[in-house]
Amino acid sequence: LMFGGGIIIAFIVALFVNAFAMGMTPPSDLQRVDPKKVEQTAPFDKPGLKQVGPNEYEAVMVSFAFGYNPNQIEVPVGSKVTFISTSKDVVHGFQIPGTNVNMMVVPGHVNKVTHTFDKPGEYLILCNEYCGAAHHMMMAKVIVK
Ligand code: CUA
Repeated sequence: LMFGGGIIIAFIVALFVNAFAMGMTPPSDLQRVDPKKVEQTAPFDKPGLKQVGPNEYEAVMVSFAFGYNPNQIEVPVGSKVTFISTSKDVVHGFQIPGTNVNMMVVPGHVNKVTHTFDKPGEYLILCNEYCGAAHHMMMAKVIVK
């Protein structure tokens, strides 16, 4: 019983150290953004698609209730796109069904995910975290051609 109790106390201590001393954070590149100042903070002051190399792009997308800015991007087939997002308000999702792109967009944090679009088509970006009354309307599009 003492051993079991000791383990529970050790776990609780580890949890508190992680949460309060080490600042428990979701996966992120550790860049912080004040959710109220997203539009004044680079790179979110200029959301959109930027070419960073041959066939390589960065898509800076601001998530908000209930949408993404920009809500449509267009890239050539074979493009490697790094999506960079943060939220202006609450926690949102960022998922492209049929790909491995699936991240949480947490206010205060910047999250990134990279995907190579090898097949042409229209890809939906969906919010998969319940974020309010119009959650089901929150989407954007990637057009690959
Ligand atoms: Cu944003 Cu659900």
